[in-house]
Amino acid sequence: MSATAAPTTGPIISFRDASKVFPARGRRPEVRAVDGVTLDVRAGEIFGVIGYSGAGKSTLVRLINALETTTGGSVVVDGTDLTGLSEARLRGVRAGIGMIFQQFNLLSARTVAGNVAYPLEVAGWPREKRRARVAELLDFVGIGDKADVHPAQLSGGQKQRVGIARALATSPRILLADEATSALDPETTQDVLALLRRVNRELGITVVVITHEMDVVRSICDRVAVMEHGKVVELGDAYQVFSRPKQPVTRRFVATALKDRPSAEVLERLRARHSGRIVTVGVDEVAGSSAVITRVLRERGVDGTVVFGGITEVAERPYGSLTLELVGDAAAVDGAVAALRGVTDVVDLGTAARPLEDPSVVRRGGPVGAEEDTAGAPRRGARVVGVADYGTFASGGGPAGGPTGMIEEDGDR
Ligand SMILES: Nc1ncnc2c1ncn2[C@@H]1O[C@H](COP(=O)(O)OP(=O)(O)OP(=O)(O)O)[C@@H](O)[C@H]1O
Ligand SMILES: [Mg+2]
Repeated sequence: MSATAAPTTGPIISFRDASKVFPARGRRPEVRAVDGVTLDVRAGEIFGVIGYSGAGKSTLVRLINALETTTGGSVVVDGTDLTGLSEARLRGVRAGIGMIFQQFNLLSARTVAGNVAYPLEVAGWPREKRRARVAELLDFVGIGDKADVHPAQLSGGQKQRVGIARALATSPRILLADEATSALDPETTQDVLALLRRVNRELGITVVVITHEMDVVRSICDRVAVMEHGKVVELGDAYQVFSRPKQPVTRRFVATALKDRPSAEVLERLRARHSGRIVTVGVDEVAGSSAVITRVLRERGVDGTVVFGGITEVAERPYGSLTLELVGDAAAVDGAVAALRGVTDVVDLGTAARPLEDPSVVRRGGPVGAEEDTAGAPRRGARVVGVADYGTFASGGGPAGGPTGMIEEDGDR
Protein backbone atom coordinates (compact mmCIF):
# COMPACT_ATOMS: atom_id res chain seq x y z
CA MET A 1 0.00 0.00 0.00
CA SER A 2 2.42 2.66 -1.18
CA ALA A 3 1.59 6.22 -2.12
CA THR A 4 0.94 6.81 -5.80
CA ALA A 5 1.56 9.94 -7.82
CA ALA A 6 -1.00 12.33 -9.27
CA PRO A 7 -3.93 10.83 -11.17
CA THR A 8 -3.18 9.35 -14.57
CA THR A 9 -5.30 10.54 -17.45
CA GLY A 10 -6.79 7.62 -19.41
CA PRO A 11 -10.55 7.12 -19.00
CA ILE A 12 -11.60 4.18 -16.85
CA ILE A 13 -15.32 4.94 -17.28
CA SER A 14 -16.76 6.44 -20.47
CA PHE A 15 -20.35 7.49 -21.01
CA ARG A 16 -21.26 8.22 -24.62
CA ASP A 17 -24.68 9.81 -25.11
CA ALA A 18 -25.87 7.41 -22.43
CA SER A 19 -29.56 7.45 -21.49
CA LYS A 20 -31.80 5.62 -19.09
CA VAL A 21 -35.50 6.00 -19.65
CA PHE A 22 -37.89 4.35 -17.21
CA PRO A 23 -41.04 3.64 -19.24
CA ALA A 24 -44.42 4.99 -18.25
CA ARG A 25 -46.28 2.72 -15.90
CA GLY A 26 -49.94 3.15 -14.99
CA ARG A 27 -50.51 6.88 -14.49
CA ARG A 28 -46.81 7.60 -14.01
CA PRO A 29 -45.25 9.15 -17.12
CA GLU A 30 -41.95 7.98 -18.57
CA VAL A 31 -38.85 9.28 -16.73
CA ARG A 32 -35.64 10.23 -18.52
CA ALA A 33 -33.49 9.63 -15.42
CA VAL A 34 -30.24 9.90 -17.41
CA ASP A 35 -30.53 11.89 -20.61
CA GLY A 36 -27.73 11.80 -23.18
CA VAL A 37 -24.74 11.92 -20.85
CA THR A 38 -21.25 12.00 -22.34
CA LEU A 39 -18.34 12.07 -19.92
CA ASP A 40 -15.10 10.32 -19.06
CA VAL A 41 -13.92 9.44 -15.57
CA ARG A 42 -10.12 9.29 -15.64
CA ALA A 43 -8.24 6.41 -14.06
CA GLY A 44 -6.90 7.42 -10.66
CA GLU A 45 -9.03 10.51 -10.05
CA ILE A 46 -11.76 11.36 -7.55
CA PHE A 47 -14.71 12.31 -9.69
CA GLY A 48 -17.75 14.01 -8.19
CA VAL A 49 -21.33 13.97 -9.47
CA ILE A 50 -23.36 16.68 -7.76
CA GLY A 51 -27.02 17.50 -8.19
CA TYR A 52 -30.25 17.96 -6.30
CA SER A 53 -32.63 15.11 -5.48
CA GLY A 54 -34.01 13.44 -8.57
CA ALA A 55 -31.25 14.76 -10.87
CA GLY A 56 -30.36 11.22 -11.91
CA LYS A 57 -27.13 10.73 -9.95
CA SER A 58 -27.91 7.30 -8.51
CA THR A 59 -29.16 6.07 -11.85
CA LEU A 60 -25.92 7.26 -13.44
CA VAL A 61 -23.79 5.26 -10.96
CA ARG A 62 -26.04 2.24 -11.30
CA LEU A 63 -25.20 2.30 -15.02
CA ILE A 64 -21.51 2.04 -14.07
CA ASN A 65 -21.89 -1.14 -12.04
CA ALA A 66 -24.58 -2.44 -14.38
CA LEU A 67 -27.34 -2.54 -11.80
CA GLU A 68 -29.21 -0.69 -14.55
CA THR A 69 -28.65 -0.96 -18.29
CA THR A 70 -28.78 1.92 -20.73
CA THR A 71 -31.76 2.48 -22.99
CA GLY A 72 -29.53 4.48 -25.37
CA GLY A 73 -25.86 5.22 -25.93
CA SER A 74 -23.07 3.31 -24.24
CA VAL A 75 -21.11 2.91 -21.03
CA VAL A 76 -17.58 1.50 -21.17
CA VAL A 77 -16.00 0.43 -17.88
CA ASP A 78 -12.34 -0.51 -17.74
CA GLY A 79 -12.30 -1.29 -21.44
CA THR A 80 -15.53 -3.32 -21.47
CA ASP A 81 -18.60 -1.99 -23.26
CA LEU A 82 -21.49 -2.92 -20.98
CA THR A 83 -24.10 -2.64 -23.73
CA GLY A 84 -25.73 -6.00 -24.34
CA LEU A 85 -23.37 -7.98 -22.08
CA SER A 86 -24.56 -11.30 -20.64
CA GLU A 87 -25.39 -11.44 -16.93
CA ALA A 88 -22.30 -13.62 -16.38
CA ARG A 89 -20.01 -11.03 -18.01
CA LEU A 90 -21.72 -8.23 -16.07
CA ARG A 91 -20.95 -10.08 -12.82
CA GLY A 92 -17.29 -10.01 -13.81
CA VAL A 93 -17.42 -6.24 -14.37
CA ARG A 94 -19.18 -5.74 -11.01
CA ALA A 95 -16.42 -7.68 -9.24
CA GLY A 96 -14.00 -4.91 -10.19
CA ILE A 97 -16.21 -2.21 -8.64
CA GLY A 98 -16.77 -1.53 -4.94
CA MET A 99 -19.74 0.47 -3.69
CA ILE A 100 -20.67 2.22 -0.47
CA PHE A 101 -24.04 3.64 0.48
CA GLN A 102 -25.70 6.33 2.59
CA GLN A 103 -27.31 3.73 4.88
CA PHE A 104 -24.15 1.56 5.02
CA ASN A 105 -26.13 -1.62 4.15
CA LEU A 106 -24.26 -3.78 6.70
CA LEU A 107 -25.42 -7.24 7.73
CA SER A 108 -26.66 -6.72 11.28
CA ALA A 109 -26.36 -10.39 12.31
CA ARG A 110 -22.67 -10.49 11.40
CA THR A 111 -19.73 -8.98 13.23
CA VAL A 112 -17.61 -6.25 11.65
CA ALA A 113 -15.09 -8.86 10.55
CA GLY A 114 -17.91 -11.04 9.23
CA ASN A 115 -19.23 -8.15 7.14
CA VAL A 116 -15.85 -7.43 5.59
CA ALA A 117 -15.24 -11.14 4.99
CA TYR A 118 -18.56 -11.58 3.19
CA PRO A 119 -17.44 -10.64 -0.36
CA LEU A 120 -14.33 -12.80 0.13
CA GLU A 121 -16.52 -15.77 1.04
CA VAL A 122 -18.60 -15.17 -2.07
CA ALA A 123 -15.38 -15.05 -4.10
CA GLY A 124 -14.28 -18.37 -2.58
CA TRP A 125 -11.27 -17.21 -0.53
CA PRO A 126 -9.99 -19.83 1.99
CA ARG A 127 -10.50 -19.06 5.68
CA GLU A 128 -6.89 -18.16 6.57
CA LYS A 129 -6.43 -15.82 3.62
CA ARG A 130 -9.75 -14.21 4.48
CA ARG A 131 -8.74 -13.64 8.07
CA ALA A 132 -5.47 -11.95 7.07
CA ARG A 133 -7.18 -9.78 4.45
CA VAL A 134 -9.93 -8.68 6.85
CA ALA A 135 -7.36 -7.71 9.51
CA GLU A 136 -5.38 -5.71 6.93
CA LEU A 137 -8.52 -3.90 5.73
CA LEU A 138 -9.79 -3.07 9.22
CA ASP A 139 -6.39 -1.62 10.08
CA PHE A 140 -6.40 0.43 6.88
CA VAL A 141 -9.77 2.00 7.69
CA GLY A 142 -8.78 2.55 11.33
CA ILE A 143 -11.11 0.17 13.20
CA GLY A 144 -8.80 -2.79 13.82
CA ASP A 145 -10.12 -2.98 17.40
CA LYS A 146 -13.77 -3.43 16.30
CA ALA A 147 -13.47 -6.75 14.46
CA ASP A 148 -15.69 -8.70 16.86
CA VAL A 149 -18.46 -6.19 17.56
CA HIS A 150 -21.76 -5.98 15.71
CA PRO A 151 -22.75 -2.99 13.54
CA ALA A 152 -25.41 -1.87 16.05
CA GLN A 153 -22.60 -1.03 18.50
CA LEU A 154 -20.84 1.31 16.06
CA SER A 155 -21.19 5.03 15.35
CA GLY A 156 -22.22 6.11 11.86
CA GLY A 157 -18.65 6.98 10.94
CA GLN A 158 -17.43 3.58 12.12
CA LYS A 159 -20.21 1.85 10.16
CA GLN A 160 -19.13 3.61 7.00
CA ARG A 161 -15.53 2.53 7.66
CA VAL A 162 -16.81 -1.05 7.71
CA GLY A 163 -18.65 -0.33 4.46
CA ILE A 164 -15.45 0.98 2.90
CA ALA A 165 -13.40 -2.00 4.13
CA ARG A 166 -16.00 -4.38 2.71
CA ALA A 167 -16.07 -2.52 -0.62
CA LEU A 168 -12.27 -2.74 -0.86
CA ALA A 169 -12.05 -6.43 0.12
CA THR A 170 -11.64 -7.86 -3.36
CA SER A 171 -9.30 -5.04 -4.50
CA PRO A 172 -11.59 -3.23 -6.94
CA ARG A 173 -10.18 -0.66 -9.36
CA ILE A 174 -13.21 1.59 -8.92
CA LEU A 175 -15.07 2.65 -5.77
CA LEU A 176 -18.55 4.16 -6.12
CA ALA A 177 -19.81 6.21 -3.16
CA ASP A 178 -23.50 7.11 -3.39
CA GLU A 179 -24.23 9.81 -0.75
CA ALA A 180 -21.79 7.94 1.49
CA THR A 181 -21.53 10.79 4.00
CA SER A 182 -25.09 12.15 3.86
CA ALA A 183 -26.09 10.41 7.11
CA LEU A 184 -23.03 11.69 9.00
CA ASP A 185 -22.36 14.88 10.97
CA PRO A 186 -19.93 17.39 9.41
CA GLU A 187 -16.89 16.31 11.43
CA THR A 188 -17.42 12.60 10.77
CA THR A 189 -18.05 13.46 7.13
CA GLN A 190 -14.59 15.01 6.93
CA ASP A 191 -13.02 11.90 8.54
CA VAL A 192 -14.70 9.60 6.05
CA LEU A 193 -13.76 11.88 3.14
CA ALA A 194 -10.15 11.82 4.34
CA LEU A 195 -10.32 8.04 4.29
CA LEU A 196 -11.71 8.08 0.73
CA ARG A 197 -8.82 10.33 -0.26
CA ARG A 198 -6.39 7.74 1.18
CA VAL A 199 -8.18 4.99 -0.73
CA ASN A 200 -7.57 7.03 -3.86
CA ARG A 201 -4.03 8.22 -3.22
CA GLU A 202 -2.56 5.19 -1.45
CA LEU A 203 -4.35 2.39 -3.27
CA GLY A 204 -4.69 4.14 -6.63
CA ILE A 205 -8.42 3.38 -6.77
CA THR A 206 -10.62 5.60 -8.94
CA VAL A 207 -13.40 7.02 -6.75
CA VAL A 208 -16.75 8.28 -8.05
CA VAL A 209 -18.55 10.34 -5.41
CA ILE A 210 -22.27 11.04 -5.76
CA THR A 211 -23.50 13.86 -3.57
CA HIS A 212 -25.89 16.76 -3.12
CA GLU A 213 -23.38 18.43 -0.80
CA MET A 214 -21.02 21.02 -2.23
CA ASP A 215 -18.70 20.54 0.76
CA VAL A 216 -18.02 16.96 -0.30
CA VAL A 217 -16.98 18.01 -3.79
CA ARG A 218 -15.04 20.96 -2.41
CA SER A 219 -13.08 18.69 -0.05
CA ILE A 220 -11.99 15.80 -2.22
CA CYS A 221 -13.01 15.89 -5.87
CA ASP A 222 -10.51 16.51 -8.66
CA ARG A 223 -13.22 16.94 -11.28
CA VAL A 224 -16.96 17.27 -11.10
CA ALA A 225 -20.09 16.86 -13.18
CA VAL A 226 -23.13 18.91 -12.20
CA MET A 227 -26.36 17.06 -13.03
CA GLU A 228 -29.85 18.43 -13.50
CA HIS A 229 -32.89 16.68 -15.01
CA GLY A 230 -30.78 13.72 -16.12
CA LYS A 231 -28.26 15.86 -17.99
CA VAL A 232 -24.73 16.92 -17.17
CA VAL A 233 -24.97 20.73 -17.27
CA GLU A 234 -21.38 21.53 -16.20
CA LEU A 235 -18.28 19.39 -16.26
CA GLY A 236 -14.64 19.98 -15.49
CA ASP A 237 -11.95 20.64 -12.95
CA ALA A 238 -13.70 21.16 -9.59
CA TYR A 239 -11.89 24.45 -8.99
CA GLN A 240 -12.81 25.85 -12.41
CA VAL A 241 -16.43 24.77 -12.17
CA PHE A 242 -17.01 26.27 -8.73
CA SER A 243 -14.87 29.40 -9.01
CA ARG A 244 -16.57 30.32 -12.31
CA PRO A 245 -20.02 28.70 -12.10
CA LYS A 246 -21.98 29.13 -15.33
CA GLN A 247 -25.30 27.41 -14.63
CA PRO A 248 -27.89 28.58 -12.05
CA VAL A 249 -27.83 25.16 -10.39
CA THR A 250 -24.06 25.38 -9.91
CA ARG A 251 -24.37 28.91 -8.51
CA ARG A 252 -26.89 27.61 -5.98
CA PHE A 253 -24.40 25.05 -4.73
CA VAL A 254 -21.64 27.66 -4.48
CA ALA A 255 -23.89 30.17 -2.70
CA THR A 256 -25.07 27.68 -0.08
CA ALA A 257 -21.59 26.37 0.62
CA LEU A 258 -19.43 29.47 0.82
CA LYS A 259 -21.51 32.27 2.39
CA ASP A 260 -18.56 34.58 1.86
CA ARG A 261 -20.59 37.48 0.41
CA PRO A 262 -22.62 39.80 2.61
CA SER A 263 -26.37 39.44 2.30
CA ALA A 264 -28.52 42.54 1.86
CA GLU A 265 -29.21 42.56 5.62
CA VAL A 266 -25.53 42.17 6.51
CA LEU A 267 -24.66 44.95 4.08
CA GLU A 268 -27.14 47.26 5.82
CA ARG A 269 -25.46 46.57 9.15
CA LEU A 270 -21.99 47.04 7.65
CA ARG A 271 -23.02 50.45 6.33
CA ALA A 272 -24.39 51.41 9.73
CA ARG A 273 -21.07 50.58 11.34
CA HIS A 274 -18.66 51.72 8.59
CA SER A 275 -18.98 55.02 6.78
CA GLY A 276 -16.12 54.36 4.33
CA ARG A 277 -16.24 52.80 0.86
CA ILE A 278 -17.25 49.15 1.00
CA VAL A 279 -15.89 46.83 -1.67
CA THR A 280 -15.93 43.07 -2.06
CA VAL A 281 -12.84 41.61 -3.71
CA GLY A 282 -12.48 38.08 -5.02
CA VAL A 283 -9.67 35.97 -3.66
CA ASP A 284 -8.52 33.00 -5.66
CA GLU A 285 -5.40 31.39 -6.94
CA VAL A 286 -5.10 33.44 -10.11
CA ALA A 287 -7.11 36.58 -9.49
CA GLY A 288 -5.67 37.80 -6.25
CA SER A 289 -4.60 37.17 -2.70
CA SER A 290 -4.87 39.20 0.46
CA ALA A 291 -1.15 40.05 0.12
CA VAL A 292 -1.75 41.56 -3.32
CA ILE A 293 -4.74 43.52 -2.02
CA THR A 294 -2.75 44.86 0.94
CA ARG A 295 0.05 45.98 -1.37
CA VAL A 296 -2.33 47.84 -3.72
CA LEU A 297 -3.91 49.70 -0.81
CA ARG A 298 -0.55 50.60 0.72
CA GLU A 299 0.70 52.01 -2.60
CA ARG A 300 -2.38 54.26 -2.81
CA GLY A 301 -2.23 55.43 0.79
CA VAL A 302 -5.64 53.90 1.53
CA ASP A 303 -6.53 52.10 4.76
CA GLY A 304 -8.39 48.85 4.30
CA THR A 305 -10.18 46.93 7.05
CA VAL A 306 -11.71 43.54 6.50
CA VAL A 307 -15.36 43.76 7.60
CA PHE A 308 -16.77 40.53 6.14
CA GLY A 309 -15.72 37.55 4.09
CA GLY A 310 -14.42 34.07 3.90
CA ILE A 311 -11.65 32.23 2.15
CA THR A 312 -11.91 28.51 1.87
CA GLU A 313 -10.58 25.78 -0.34
CA VAL A 314 -12.03 24.22 -3.43
CA ALA A 315 -10.04 21.21 -4.62
CA GLU A 316 -7.27 22.21 -2.20
CA ARG A 317 -6.91 25.68 -3.75
CA PRO A 318 -7.86 29.00 -2.16
CA TYR A 319 -11.18 30.55 -3.05
CA GLY A 320 -13.52 33.13 -1.57
CA SER A 321 -13.89 36.86 -1.11
CA LEU A 322 -13.18 39.62 1.36
CA THR A 323 -15.33 42.68 1.96
CA LEU A 324 -13.25 45.69 2.95
CA GLU A 325 -13.94 49.17 4.21
CA LEU A 326 -11.59 51.54 2.40
CA VAL A 327 -10.83 54.84 4.12
CA GLY A 328 -8.76 57.68 2.72
CA ASP A 329 -8.80 60.64 0.37
CA ALA A 330 -11.73 60.17 -2.07
CA ALA A 331 -9.52 60.26 -5.17
CA ALA A 332 -7.07 57.83 -3.59
CA VAL A 333 -9.92 55.40 -2.78
CA ASP A 334 -11.18 55.68 -6.39
CA GLY A 335 -7.65 54.94 -7.59
CA ALA A 336 -7.33 51.99 -5.22
CA VAL A 337 -10.64 50.51 -6.43
CA ALA A 338 -9.49 50.89 -10.05
CA ALA A 339 -6.13 49.30 -9.21
CA LEU A 340 -7.83 46.38 -7.42
CA ARG A 341 -9.89 45.80 -10.55
CA GLY A 342 -6.60 45.26 -12.33
CA VAL A 343 -5.73 42.31 -10.10
CA THR A 344 -9.02 40.72 -9.12
CA ASP A 345 -12.82 40.85 -9.34
CA VAL A 346 -14.27 43.79 -7.43
CA VAL A 347 -17.82 44.64 -6.44
CA ASP A 348 -18.08 48.30 -5.44
CA LEU A 349 -20.77 48.69 -2.81
CA GLY A 350 -20.30 52.45 -2.40
CA THR A 351 -20.52 54.20 0.92
CA ALA A 352 -23.22 54.49 3.54
CA ALA A 353 -24.01 57.96 2.17
CA ARG A 354 -23.96 56.84 -1.48
CA PRO A 355 -24.66 53.11 -1.52
CA LEU A 356 -24.29 50.94 -4.64
CA GLU A 357 -26.19 47.71 -5.16
CA ASP A 358 -24.40 44.41 -5.39
CA PRO A 359 -26.16 42.95 -8.45
CA SER A 360 -25.53 39.40 -7.29
CA VAL A 361 -26.12 39.97 -3.60
CA VAL A 362 -27.70 37.27 -1.50
CA ARG A 363 -30.85 39.19 -0.73
CA ARG A 364 -33.92 38.86 1.43
CA GLY A 365 -35.97 35.89 0.33
CA GLY A 366 -33.00 33.68 -0.46
CA PRO A 367 -29.84 33.54 -2.47
CA VAL A 368 -29.57 34.50 -6.09
CA GLY A 369 -30.48 31.51 -8.16
CA ALA A 370 -32.79 30.13 -5.46
CA GLU A 371 -35.44 30.28 -8.13
CA GLU A 372 -33.85 29.15 -11.31
CA ASP A 373 -36.30 31.00 -13.47
CA THR A 374 -35.19 34.36 -12.12
CA ALA A 375 -31.46 33.77 -11.73
CA GLY A 376 -29.59 35.28 -14.60
CA ALA A 377 -32.53 37.44 -15.62
CA PRO A 378 -31.96 41.18 -15.85
CA ARG A 379 -32.63 42.78 -12.48
CA ARG A 380 -32.45 46.48 -11.76
CA GLY A 381 -30.44 47.00 -14.90
CA ALA A 382 -27.92 44.37 -13.99
CA ARG A 383 -27.26 41.04 -15.62
CA VAL A 384 -26.49 38.62 -12.85
CA VAL A 385 -23.58 36.48 -13.89
CA GLY A 386 -23.08 34.52 -10.73
CA VAL A 387 -22.86 34.74 -7.01
CA ALA A 388 -19.14 34.11 -7.10
CA ASP A 389 -18.45 36.06 -10.27
CA TYR A 390 -18.13 39.74 -9.67
CA GLY A 391 -17.61 41.02 -13.18
CA THR A 392 -16.98 44.71 -13.73
CA PHE A 393 -19.08 47.86 -13.67
CA ALA A 394 -19.47 48.94 -17.28
CA SER A 395 -20.47 52.40 -16.18
CA GLY A 396 -16.86 52.97 -15.24
CA GLY A 397 -17.43 52.33 -11.58
CA GLY A 398 -17.14 54.94 -8.93
CA PRO A 399 -19.67 55.82 -6.30
CA ALA A 400 -22.09 57.39 -8.75
CA GLY A 401 -24.95 56.76 -6.38
CA GLY A 402 -27.98 54.60 -6.85
CA PRO A 403 -28.30 51.13 -8.25
CA THR A 404 -26.94 51.99 -11.67
CA GLY A 405 -24.01 49.60 -11.86
CA MET A 406 -24.09 47.16 -14.73
CA ILE A 407 -22.37 43.85 -14.32
CA GLU A 408 -21.19 42.37 -17.58
CA GLU A 409 -20.71 38.86 -18.76
CA ASP A 410 -17.18 37.64 -19.22
CA GLY A 411 -16.13 37.43 -22.84
CA ASP A 412 -15.89 33.66 -22.67
CA ARG A 413 -19.50 33.05 -21.77
N1 LIG B 1 -36.56 2.15 -11.00
C1 LIG B 1 -37.13 3.31 -11.32
N2 LIG B 1 -38.30 3.39 -11.95
C2 LIG B 1 -38.86 4.56 -12.31
N3 LIG B 1 -38.29 5.76 -12.08
C3 LIG B 1 -37.11 5.77 -11.45
C4 LIG B 1 -36.45 4.57 -11.03
N4 LIG B 1 -35.27 4.91 -10.44
C5 LIG B 1 -35.21 6.25 -10.48
N5 LIG B 1 -36.30 6.77 -11.09
C6 LIG B 1 -36.56 8.20 -11.33
O1 LIG B 1 -35.45 8.73 -12.02
C7 LIG B 1 -35.15 10.05 -11.59
C8 LIG B 1 -33.73 10.11 -11.09
O2 LIG B 1 -33.63 9.32 -9.91
P1 LIG B 1 -32.24 9.11 -9.16
O3 LIG B 1 -32.50 8.20 -8.02
O4 LIG B 1 -31.21 8.70 -10.15
O5 LIG B 1 -31.93 10.58 -8.65
P2 LIG B 1 -30.84 11.09 -7.61
O6 LIG B 1 -30.17 12.24 -8.25
O7 LIG B 1 -30.01 9.95 -7.16
O8 LIG B 1 -31.74 11.62 -6.42
P3 LIG B 1 -31.50 11.57 -4.83
O9 LIG B 1 -30.54 12.69 -4.53
O10 LIG B 1 -32.84 11.81 -4.26
O11 LIG B 1 -30.93 10.21 -4.50
C9 LIG B 1 -36.19 10.36 -10.53
O12 LIG B 1 -37.23 11.07 -11.13
C10 LIG B 1 -36.65 9.00 -10.07
O13 LIG B 1 -37.97 9.05 -9.59
MG1 LIG C 1 -29.66 9.05 -5.32
